[in-house]
Amino acid sequence: MSARGGAGLTARSREGSPGAGGFAPSALGTREHWDAVYERELHTFQEYGDTGEIWFGEESVNRLLRWMQRHKIPLDAAVLDIGTGNGVLLVELAKLGFSNITGIDYSPSAIQLSGSIIEKEGLSNITLKVEDFLNLPTELSGFHVCIDKGTFDAISLNPDNAIEKRKQYVNSLSRVLKVNGFFLITSCNWTKEELLNEFCEGFELFEVLPTPKFSFGGRSGNSVAALVFQKT
Ligand SMILES: C[S@@+](CC[C@H](N)C(=O)[O-])C[C@H]1O[C@@H](n2cnc3c(N)ncnc32)[C@H](O)[C@@H]1O
Repeated sequence: MSARGGAGLTARSREGSPGAGGFAPSALGTREHWDAVYERELHTFQEYGDTGEIWFGEESVNRLLRWMQRHKIPLDAAVLDIGTGNGVLLVELAKLGFSNITGIDYSPSAIQLSGSIIEKEGLSNITLKVEDFLNLPTELSGFHVCIDKGTFDAISLNPDNAIEKRKQYVNSLSRVLKVNGFFLITSCNWTKEELLNEFCEGFELFEVLPTPKFSFGGRSGNSVAALVFQKT
């Protein structure tokens, strides 16, 4: 298992804020890219048992788990991991006792990999589905908690009208999350202020989670933003 920081997803079109236009389009925003990534990781898992990348490192997973525990989220709460990748977050949630968890990803190889990892861990009560979050079936709804670690980042890099895709993301989130439900997002491409702007309609900021600080060339900031929103 290896930890992957934010750098792999960053494709800022210029220094500073991405502005309304967003980021320079990148292959990282395409399904083909993620399919190739997870096909490779599936092969590595089958050969060597390595579960693959943990986006933003293990601390990013622990930060989310600590938040769930601190806020006493009931173990039977319906939790959705948006763009679950290798499903490691789902595995850790299940190990904590969460029993109503769902992971979706638009990459069939990601879902195959997460299914294999979950099976090897001997876990049950995890639902996995190949779904495009931007084009969801109506039955996927009623979640108390939705978690995104790197998926909104990837969608923001889509070469095909990323602005519209970001709007679709907010619409899908509004549809699947219950009123007063929580949305936990970890991002390396968007700052706290930018995320507040992206999710200003129908959501309010509940908490800013502490993330590591960097300091370079006389400037300092956070390499990753982790925010909790609540649906109003
Ligand atoms: C940076 S990876 C993060 C994976 C995982 N959340 C983690 O932390 O390891 C982004 C994930 O989002 C998925 N993804 C991107 N766009 C998506 C979409 N529209 N619907 C569902 N999944 C998507 C990709 O297939 C990939 O698994």
